[in-house]
Amino acid sequence: MTRTATASWEERVSNGATAEAIPEPCVFVLFGASGDLARRKLLPALFRLFERGLLPEGFALVGASLAAMDREAFRASVRESLEQAMGALDGIAWQVFARKLEHVTMDLSRTEDYSRLAERLGQVEREHGTRGNRLFYLSVAPSLFGPVVDHLGASGLSRARAGAWARIIVEKPFGTDLASARALNARLHRYFDEPSIFRMDHYLGKEMVQNLLVLRFANRLFEPLWNRQHIDHVQITNAETLGVEGRGGYYEQSGVVRDMIQGHVFQVLSLLAMEPPEDLSPESVRSAKVELLQTARAFSPERIRTECIRGQYGAGQVSGAPVPGYRQEPGVAVDSGVETYALLTMRFDSLRWAGVPFYVRSGKRLEERVTEVAVQFKPGLFRFPGLEGQEQTGANQLVLRIQPKEGLVLRINTKVPGRGLGMREVDLSFLYAQAFDERLPEAYEPLLLEGLLGISTLYTRRDMVERSWELVMPVLEAWSETKAEPNYAAGTWGPAAARQLLEGQGRAWNRG
Ligand code: BG6
Repeated sequence: MTRTATASWEERVSNGATAEAIPEPCVFVLFGASGDLARRKLLPALFRLFERGLLPEGFALVGASLAAMDREAFRASVRESLEQAMGALDGIAWQVFARKLEHVTMDLSRTEDYSRLAERLGQVEREHGTRGNRLFYLSVAPSLFGPVVDHLGASGLSRARAGAWARIIVEKPFGTDLASARALNARLHRYFDEPSIFRMDHYLGKEMVQNLLVLRFANRLFEPLWNRQHIDHVQITNAETLGVEGRGGYYEQSGVVRDMIQGHVFQVLSLLAMEPPEDLSPESVRSAKVELLQTARAFSPERIRTECIRGQYGAGQVSGAPVPGYRQEPGVAVDSGVETYALLTMRFDSLRWAGVPFYVRSGKRLEERVTEVAVQFKPGLFRFPGLEGQEQTGANQLVLRIQPKEGLVLRINTKVPGRGLGMREVDLSFLYAQAFDERLPEAYEPLLLEGLLGISTLYTRRDMVERSWELVMPVLEAWSETKAEPNYAAGTWGPAAARQLLEGQGRAWNRG
């Protein structure tokens, strides 16, 4: 199904070469080609893959959008987007890449336009030798997901031709609740089978998130301790300094649980806490993740009241500059009750995790941009004879830093130099930037490559999406009964209640 890269268009690429698999010839149909995500993330990621020699010779990108553009205008606009995102382009690489770009002007809600798309794809396939393989990418408003899928089905575009494949990548948000996620799954399944459906969650493309599997299972040091015997609790922090960035309208329908926790944060959580997969196949890895979520304890009204906290930012300062409160953002109701911060205490009723809380928090306009996991071990068992009365040092902590400054820090106790057994905590750290010369790929690079290769490990399976929604629904429903009120100033670590919740249990956040 895949082949190994052979010498391609330029020596640099063939030298750089790569024993990595490269996809079969195919056409990448990008719905929403002039949208923000396409311009900032998708097109740069595709260009990088191309530069790295990881796209097949027979490749074409067909941008589908409402803009009345011919091929040349589309190429110019892609160039502009790439330059904005990545600076000056390598001239030769750009020239070759540009020849692979085509555009179709279409209104995604009009049936006739899909027949035109089908015709155009036929031509493109002949011109670019893409052998009938098609990948459709839905980078459009969520309200269009269903209609586009139906049109692809009705026009026959969803059907793979003999010896070829047809796949679909669906951007987030995948539904806004359990019912809408189920409905979208059912709609997709009318025309595509599960192996052809790729549900995007860009956190799965982050290098350190992919590394969770290796760190946990390839190190004898961690796995034997990765359980309730040795771990006191786990904190997952997903903190942003950004506000809603002109997306107030979207965020008003969303909030942080829908926007971040149900998807991105649960992905991290499941890789962190799952049992070892049977093997590394997409199905085994994805099954292990869902099985973990199956053991998650439901949120009862009591748990929501005592173990979950929500918040909304008021005006404050971020990096020294004043910023407005959420209710003052464009597109946001002046009395909005949407949460911009949430802390959920996750519990798993399993032999491995019984009694170990996983504190999961995410928020906008917090003090620092950081996504990390802090695994707090229990204190050492040994008490040094003769030192009983003295304060002994803290327990070990492992911090897995997902972004920025990707890496990890392991906190251990050590003796202070000199006489006696005075102890202190010190940090052992690994930073990607120091350990590797390679640039860390942007999340969309591995994701798009895997989608083109047809490997779905880094994509969300149907049961995972639905289980994630099922878990957060009671929280969303309970919270929808009353409004979140501004209860933290922008640029701080969130509502005081979140700090107090941990303190009440004799614990503290590792930051904030
Ligand atoms: C998106 C959310 O999925 O992820 C945004 O819709 C959020 O609200 C973004 O800012 C965060 O992604 P990253 O990669 O910057 O952590």
